[in-house]
Amino acid sequence: MNQKLHPSTVAVIAGRGTKQPGAPTSLPVNLSSTFHPGGERIYGRHGNPNWSALEDVLGALEGGRALVYSSGMGAISAVLELLPVGSGVVMPFDAYYGTRKFVHEAAEHGRLSYKEVDVSETTSVLEACAAAELLWLETPTNPLMNVADIAVLAKGAHQRGVQVAVDSTFATPLLQQPLDLGADIVVHSVTKYISGHSDVLLGAVVTRDEQTFDELLELRSLYGAIAGPMESWLALRGLRTLPLRLERAQANAGELARRLDTHPVVSRVRYPGLPDDPGHEVAARQMDGFGAMVCFEVSNAEVADRITGALEVVVDATSLGGLETTIDRRSKYPGEEAVPEGLLRLNVGVEFVEDLWADLRRALDATS
Ligand SMILES: Cc1ncc(COP(=O)(O)O)c(C=O)c1O
Repeated sequence: MNQKLHPSTVAVIAGRGTKQPGAPTSLPVNLSSTFHPGGERIYGRHGNPNWSALEDVLGALEGGRALVYSSGMGAISAVLELLPVGSGVVMPFDAYYGTRKFVHEAAEHGRLSYKEVDVSETTSVLEACAAAELLWLETPTNPLMNVADIAVLAKGAHQRGVQVAVDSTFATPLLQQPLDLGADIVVHSVTKYISGHSDVLLGAVVTRDEQTFDELLELRSLYGAIAGPMESWLALRGLRTLPLRLERAQANAGELARRLDTHPVVSRVRYPGLPDDPGHEVAARQMDGFGAMVCFEVSNAEVADRITGALEVVVDATSLGGLETTIDRRSKYPGEEAVPEGLLRLNVGVEFVEDLWADLRRALDATS
């Protein structure tokens, strides 16, 4: 197609297969484990039409070739497993807990070494790259909402011979295109906004580098931790409405961030859409919107727990990216020692914003 399409159109029309007479416009779930020889695929561990459809859409949105995995961690570990033994990784001190744990364990076994950085401090990130093979970015970070300047970091890392991978889960493929900004690899926890209904676990890797793609594809078939066709079908169905869901969730998030920022019980709000947020300037430059994650701090863990316990519309649960607004005190989990004890991570959903605010304000007021 010659026409340049907006991502919200791509999310709807890509991955629908060939326009042959009688062919379905919406791909059904293909549960076959084996296929007649001579076609695109012969065995279900190597490929499946439902993965391909989801991969086509994710690849089109990110501007590369996508591979889907059985979870976000499946995608992350696949990328990290590509590194030769002894490689150095520079990564956020506040990266997703599972990513950090994976690298820490690999370091304990002598497979990798690592250095943790604050991704918003560009100069020190690049200094740390002097002894590394991979710069792992996550932006915004989960849960501290730090923002990395992907374009500047990718350029500086490449000058030092370092590859760059970006976990873009919070931004989604609609709000940030790391490959266009110079990154080599993008990963997503498809479990979150892309699937969007809190009913699927999946992950994805996208790259433009043919060699990286081929290596990942081969390892995926060998390791066998593949996505299920049903999950892929559900994720693609969810992805079709990502533009609509995100538009509403992001508008809600901006409104709630502004209101939380003025509430006396709240000592700090992190949302890149707030003009005085430390990540605002970079996020405004590299993102097409500020997303639907808002983190705010109250004085301590006990106050935070009283708030989560008093909420009736907002659900006290981990994970994010579903239709429903969820809240989570991250410091209660082992491995989240860098997170302030009174920090609440709010994943803003698509409910009517005044209902969300009334619920939050009542819970906050009750603690003052
Ligand atoms: C930023 C980020 N990356 C990766 C993951 C891991 O994804 P999954 O739970 O699908 O394995 C998560 C999960 O919370 C996440 O928040």
